[in-house]
Amino acid sequence: MRALDIIQDEHRNLWRIATTMVLIADEMEQGGTVDEGFFEALFDYIREFMDGCHHSKEDDYLFAAMRRRSPEAAAKVLDRLEAEHRNGPQILAEMRTHLGQAPGALTHDTVFIAALREYASNLKAHVRAEEKEAIPLAREVLTEEDWIDIDVAFSDNTDPLFGELARAEYRELYHRIAMLAPESIGLGGQSAGGFRHLAADPHEALLKVTGLESCYGRIKALKGIDLEVKKGELVALIGANGAGKTTFLRTLSGVQPMSAGQIEFAGVNISNLRADLRVRRGICHSPEGRQVFGPMAIEDNLRLGAYTRPRDQLDEDLERVYAMFPILKEKRSLPAGTLSGGQQQMLAISRALMGRPKLLLLDEPSMGLAPLLVEEVFNVIKTLKAQGITILLVEQNAFAALGIADRAYVLETGSVTLSGTGREMSSNEQVRAAYLGM
Ligand SMILES: Nc1ncnc2c1ncn2[C@@H]1O[C@H](COP(=O)(O)OP(=O)(O)O)[C@@H](O)[C@H]1O
Ligand SMILES: [Mg+2]
Repeated sequence: MRALDIIQDEHRNLWRIATTMVLIADEMEQGGTVDEGFFEALFDYIREFMDGCHHSKEDDYLFAAMRRRSPEAAAKVLDRLEAEHRNGPQILAEMRTHLGQAPGALTHDTVFIAALREYASNLKAHVRAEEKEAIPLAREVLTEEDWIDIDVAFSDNTDPLFGELARAEYRELYHRIAMLAPESIGLGGQSAGGFRHLAADPHEALLKVTGLESCYGRIKALKGIDLEVKKGELVALIGANGAGKTTFLRTLSGVQPMSAGQIEFAGVNISNLRADLRVRRGICHSPEGRQVFGPMAIEDNLRLGAYTRPRDQLDEDLERVYAMFPILKEKRSLPAGTLSGGQQQMLAISRALMGRPKLLLLDEPSMGLAPLLVEEVFNVIKTLKAQGITILLVEQNAFAALGIADRAYVLETGSVTLSGTGREMSSNEQVRAAYLGM
């Protein structure tokens, strides 16, 4: 039932969008001004993604099959949901008519703000009804053959409307929303920048760790880790607090000593190499808790990430990260400490990108971020992967991490206890119970 995974993933997305609309309404009621570009991007996203794709696919495949199998039970649940699907675009179009006023006027447009709240609350009710009524009914009445057809429809990746290409466009739109949303919930930028998609490198082992151990005094925090990351792969490392995830990343980047084992990078044993020489080889680390230098200007923080790079390429690299995160450019001479949490996370990732990583180590990038930005961080990670950067991602947000990872490892008190593809892991009962809260 791949289709249900996809639908529920999309529901989480829509829920974040609805939550964001409420936060925006709060912000405007407190007198905050919100860029119109934000609403343009938001409404485009809803129109293209939700109305244009998610809903129509539900209607045509899932709901249609339910009506065939169990017309009466289906009608009770689906009549209302389908009516909401039909009416959605009109309501959205009405909200759009409020755009185009004088700058700042939206803040005092109480009708618009009320409409935003109502839309968000209806969207949440709609998602809830699908999760609590429609999906359970579908599980009950549909047959194996029904699911085969529905799964094919939902996972069709060559489809111009629903395939990978279309998803990349949604990511662009989502990126614009996160960029232009006010600082309290988004990145608070004036411009949205762009993502560049480059082809990934072919797969071959880039990192090979064998029997890795590391200690704090007498306590062994890593007890013989074997782990491999292939070129172009996105590998997630999940595990409870205190499992040793941060210690593992720090050992890879050479700031934490190892007591046994070997680290091989691009075919070379780097176990005894100093941290700065590992950066020079392309192992770049965005640490837990961001650790940006607060009093130092944003651009100087970025320069720090490039300390191993040739000087003459610095400007070009700065422009690359500024294109991705225009807010950092807008604020480049301000102290990094003035940035919001989400902006600081983007700075921490950008600082690592300034080292031109071959292997990017990300330690809990979504920790403590607003919902819109949690999604945006995963968005950014997907884009970095699409640009050919190999990534080792440590996350507490196991669901989202497994959703984008090619493969994953579970770490428990210093040992790897499970590994597999992202999809295998997210359907593994043990993982679901322990890390996905199911
Ligand atoms: N600086 C330190 N001194 C002593 N013990 C530490 C230190 N840092 C981490 N530990 C211990 O090592 C284990 C692994 O911690 P950590 O790598 O931070 O885990 P995670 O990132 O998975 O939450 C924990 O038991 C933790 O208490
Ligand atoms: Mg940690």
